[in-house]
Amino acid sequence: MDFRTNGIAWSSDLETNDERIDSQHKELFRLTSDLIYSCARGESYAMLGKALDFLAQYTVQHFADEEALQIQYNYPDYTAHKKLHDDFKQTVTGLITQYKSDNLSVDLNSTLNSIVVRWLVQHIKQEDAKIAKHIRSLSAANKDKK
Ligand SMILES: [Fe+2]
Ligand SMILES: [Fe+2]
Repeated sequence: MDFRTNGIAWSSDLETNDERIDSQHKELFRLTSDLIYSCARGESYAMLGKALDFLAQYTVQHFADEEALQIQYNYPDYTAHKKLHDDFKQTVTGLITQYKSDNLSVDLNSTLNSIVVRWLVQHIKQEDAKIAKHIRSLSAANKDKK
C-alpha cells in the first residue's frame, strides 16, 4: 500500500481566512501528516510516542489561542466551541494513555486517520470557519463606523 494515500494535505477549502488561525491549522496538519507517515514507515514506538505528545501539546496550545481570540472578539458560541475543544482533548489524552500502556492495542495510523483527521477537517470547516467569519464581520462593522 502506498502510505502517501493516507497522508493529509492542506487544501484551500480549509482556509478560514484568518491568518492567525490558518497558520496554526496548517502546522497541525503538517504535524499530523508527518506522524501518519512515520507510522507507515514503521518508526520506533519511542519516536512515535514523542511525536504524538508533541502533536497533543500543539493542539492544546492552538485551542488555547483560538479560545483567547474568541474571548477577545466576544464570540457568541464560545462556551459550545470550548466544549468541543475540551472533548477532543480528552479523546486525544485517552488515545495517548492507551497507546503508552499497550501500543499494540492501538493501530495508531488508522486511528489518526479515522479520528484525528476526520475531527480536524470537520471542526475547521464547520466551527472554526464561524469564528473567522465573526471576526471579519466585526472588523467590517468597525470600518464602517470610521
Ligand atoms: Fe476550534
Ligand atoms: Fe482550530
